[in-house]
Order: sequence, then C-alpha cells, then structure tokens
Amino acid sequence: MQKNQYIRDLKDKDTVQSPFLIKFSATQVGKNGKPYMNLIFQDKSGEIEARIWEDVSQHVGQAVKDSFVLVEGRCQMYQGRKQIVVNRLQILREDEILPKDYLAESELDPDALYSTLLGFVDSMSDPYYKALAEAVLKDDKEITDRVKRAPAAKSMHHAYKTGLLEHVVSITGILDSLSSHYGKYLDRDLLFLGGFFHDIGKIWELSYDRTTDYTMEGKLIGHLVMGVELVDKKIRELEAQPGRLPGAFPEEKKLLVKHVILAHHGQYEYGSPKRPKCLEALVVHMVDDLDSKVNAIKTFIQADQAPGRWTGLNRAYERFFFKPDWAFEPKGENNQE
Ligand SMILES: [Fe+2]
Ligand SMILES: [Fe+2]
Repeated sequence: MQKNQYIRDLKDKDTVQSPFLIKFSATQVGKNGKPYMNLIFQDKSGEIEARIWEDVSQHVGQAVKDSFVLVEGRCQMYQGRKQIVVNRLQILREDEILPKDYLAESELDPDALYSTLLGFVDSMSDPYYKALAEAVLKDDKEITDRVKRAPAAKSMHHAYKTGLLEHVVSITGILDSLSSHYGKYLDRDLLFLGGFFHDIGKIWELSYDRTTDYTMEGKLIGHLVMGVELVDKKIRELEAQPGRLPGAFPEEKKLLVKHVILAHHGQYEYGSPKRPKCLEALVVHMVDDLDSKVNAIKTFIQADQAPGRWTGLNRAYERFFFKPDWAFEPKGENNQE
C-alpha cells in the first residue's frame, strides 16, 4: 500500500486516507460517560493525536500500539494542535506496507557514520583503551548492527533511527577538537571511550523495531549501569584471549572508563550515581549535554509549523525559538519523500 499522505503535511479540514503506525493507544471515558479512544499515529514525518468517538468497542482489540492501520477520517485543529478524528480504521499486515515510511531516520547514512566512528577507533594510541574500543565496535556484530539502528532516546533528542550513532559520532568529533585545544590536560583516548560508550547501553535499554520504548532491562537497570556491565564483560573477554592485550588490563584505566560512563549525566538528580571526578568525565558530560540540546532544539525548530519567525512554545525549554532561514528549507533527502 502506497503511503502518499504524511503527517507533517496535513492541514486543518483535510480529508485523511492513509496508513499510519500506532504509537500510543488508550481507551478513556468522556464527560458524557461514553468511552472513546485516544491514539497517537506516527509516520516518518512526525506524529499526530487521533480520536475515535464512535463504535469504540469494535476498535479496542484492533487499534493497539505498534500495529499498522489504514485510517479514514478528517484532520482538525483542537487546542492549537492538529488531530485526526477517525471514521474508519483497518488493520494492515506488515507485507502491505514499507516499514521505512513509518520510522523517522537520521539525515546521515549509517554506514558512512560507522566508518567515521571506526576511523576514530583507529586513531587511538593507548593499547588497552584501543583494544577495548575494537572489542566493542569492531568485533561484535550484534553491537554493530544495533548501533547502526538505535535511536538515542524515546523523545528528548536524536529520537529517530540511527540517532544514537549520529550523536556518538558528533560528540567524538567535538571531543577530538577539545583534546587538541587542551593538550596534555585531557586524555584523548579516555575522552573517546566516553564518546563511544556513554550511551552504548541504549542499544538494549530501548526497543526500536517499530515505535521506540524502554525494555525491561532499560526500565530496571538503565543505560549507565548497562554500559559499565558491557565494559566489564569485554575486558574479561579480552583478558581471556591471548595476544589481545599487552598485559592484564590496568585497574586504574578500567575504573576511569567506568567512571566516565557512570558520571555522564553530571548530577545525582539526572541519574548519575557519581558526579564527574576527572576532567575527561566532566568534558564528556558537558559535550553530551551540548550535543543533545543542539539536536533537540534543531529538531524542534525544523518540525515547527507556526507561521513567521518564531516557533510555538517549547515546553521542555519554556521558551519560543527564533526560526532562521534553514527552518524553512526541506529536511535532508533521507527524511522526506
Ligand atoms: Fe546518557
Ligand atoms: Fe548521550
């Protein structure tokens, strides 16, 4: 089934006839005591709220999260936001749609990003840190596959396919410049491991075959601790393989790598069990914060539909943003038809 109508292009009073992926579905009871369905549809261009007011009982088992549905209805403005009122909804099989039409993805090519990442690994000099980076990013095919696909978040920043890899490559590039800038006061290899591994746990913290959500492991353990567990496991494996390391992995280096991962959220209240206690951990934290904010605000400005030079209110940042000329250009080739 051809996807020819995208959420981003829908306008008030448009007739809707198009397939979507269901991101959220809940049955609620209106003020009049009648049940209705509260839905969020997504496609690669964005997401939109939807309501089913009539014949709710027949849709309840059908309109479930992660299913593809053909929707007939009407787009209308409600409290300043677009919403679809659904008249008809039909479940589609996976072979009737092209999954890539429904998932937002990075404007950058995953394979090209991954070779940039491996270029950073090749440029490392400490034999222990380099062997660890290779064990994770070169030798483990499952990790490579997941890193190429994973988003960096459910909604906050880089929340699209390959978003994590885009974020990691961007951060590592900035860390590379900062290491030249500050010279001997920063350990470039340790910074790089911070760039590569700080969020690597997200490849298992999130599920992202269809809509993005937290996994059981993500909810109960989280990506900081999962990253430390991965580093522990890979160092043990390296030590068991003769010739991979010049000697036993030095204890202090092991602790520093784990610290950079555990401290990267910067504050206890943002989920870091430790605050940064070496310069590399501080720098990784600040660059991570910078890169995620730049991406979040850029994405917000690009998606904004308000006319004129100012966006609508950004609730996370509690402000309106100025829209420069690029805000009015079409997004990168990969993202739109
Ligand atoms: Fe993180
Ligand atoms: Fe991050």
